[in-house]
Amino acid sequence: MDSGKMTCTLALAVFTATLGSLQYGYSLGVINAPQKVIEKNYGHSLGVWSERSAVLSENGTEEEEFSEAGQHPAVVMYWSLSVAIFAIGGMLSSFLVGFVGDLRGRVKGMLMVNVLAIAAGLLMGLCRLWKPHIMVISGRAVMGIYCGLTSGLVPMYIGEIAPKAYRGALGTLHQLAIVSGILISQVIGLDFVLGNDDMWPLLLGLSGAPAILQTFLLPLCPESPRYLYILLGKEEEARTSLSRLNGPYDATSDLEEMKREKEDKEPRMSILTLILSSKYRRQLLVALMMHLSQQLSGINAIFYYSTDIFTRAGVSQPAYATIGVGVINTVFTLVSVALVDKTGRRTLILAGLGGMCCCAIAMTVGLKLQNDYSWMSYVSMSAIFLFVSFFEIGPGPIPWFIVAELFSQGPRPAAIALAGCCNWTSNFIIGMTFQYIQALLDCYVFILFAALLFCFTMFTYFLVPETKGKTFDEIAALFQKGRKQRLKDNTELEQLKTSTDA
Ligand code: GLC
Repeated sequence: MDSGKMTCTLALAVFTATLGSLQYGYSLGVINAPQKVIEKNYGHSLGVWSERSAVLSENGTEEEEFSEAGQHPAVVMYWSLSVAIFAIGGMLSSFLVGFVGDLRGRVKGMLMVNVLAIAAGLLMGLCRLWKPHIMVISGRAVMGIYCGLTSGLVPMYIGEIAPKAYRGALGTLHQLAIVSGILISQVIGLDFVLGNDDMWPLLLGLSGAPAILQTFLLPLCPESPRYLYILLGKEEEARTSLSRLNGPYDATSDLEEMKREKEDKEPRMSILTLILSSKYRRQLLVALMMHLSQQLSGINAIFYYSTDIFTRAGVSQPAYATIGVGVINTVFTLVSVALVDKTGRRTLILAGLGGMCCCAIAMTVGLKLQNDYSWMSYVSMSAIFLFVSFFEIGPGPIPWFIVAELFSQGPRPAAIALAGCCNWTSNFIIGMTFQYIQALLDCYVFILFAALLFCFTMFTYFLVPETKGKTFDEIAALFQKGRKQRLKDNTELEQLKTSTDA
């Protein structure tokens, strides 16, 4: 979209869509702070806590009783399930993003899936009405399904309505809303706010609140013009949507661009066709590697286990240091919003991955030497803060929206679904295995991430092109050029081989 103006309707549409991302971030972060309180309540409803409290009542403090309940195998199992089922829901539903987005459009898609978010919020918020552990696990599963869908639908919609001059900045707002959601959940999850025995169901139930506001706002948002024109062939409706989004302007060149894409007659592509298609192989590789690099950088090892990591690094107030991570995370995403359309995606990802690699090495040195030099805990802590900052300037936000930029209308929904599934799966794997890897590698655990980060930096340097300020057509041409060039090189090589053999 080329008018280059930021209108109220465009701002409203982007704000409304990112309420879904806020919910995703909130659900990612909300489960960490109140762990002990929720475990106690699980113990209660399973009848484990009261037995224990009877045994401990003579000399045990309440705190001891909490942790005793927390360690009961049934409580541990239900707690782990409450955490993990969210990612399982996301992994499964992310496959359906293309289907939901194409069914009745992006806006109606986001509207429909809100039913899931509200149901999930109610299940968790009202968990005291029945067995809390079952209610919370069901709520988290439904919320995971919602988030798997929303984490694809939001970037798809924003990518399609944003003017190309600030497609990057608007795309980064998806991540800004995610990190704001994480931060809000960290703050209101503190025990003197909502993370306590009385209020924790409300804390979990609030994850569904943004969906209520979004449900009222979505009907005011214009449908994606690309969906209307390229997929449904409704030129007039696309024109109306364009002028609502961009204000009065001459939409001819935008419509021309869409027309060219439509004439290419690229049909909607299924996930399987996309995987098998050689035409999109390089784009797909880049998209999947971007998401793998985001997750295998180890960022969620920090987010899920930061309190533990800070304790090991000798930090005296780990809970507040964790909130510090949330603040840094948000501030540097704002820096990315400001830079992404000036500096470009490729540069920010390269700087981010390279910087994270150095920080992972510094963390290892800090952890290794902290017993010899007390000031090493400052090195570890600064390295963690810098690691998160580097993540947010590029590897955090860019993968989410670059997939929508790399593919044209036909394969876009399938590509977003595949990339989303790759993201959720690798996130789940890190969440489940990090503690075991840490037990195995001890203070060398971040060396593993440093090695992976180095490989991803090299991959980006050699294979990821710049997409800043280019139309979807031009981006496709970039990859086609690469492909044609390779085909040409191969043919020349073959010819050379044949002539040498002869
Ligand atoms: C990205 C990642 C998510 C991570 C978050 C941290 O959105 O996809 O897994 O928790 O960044 O800011």
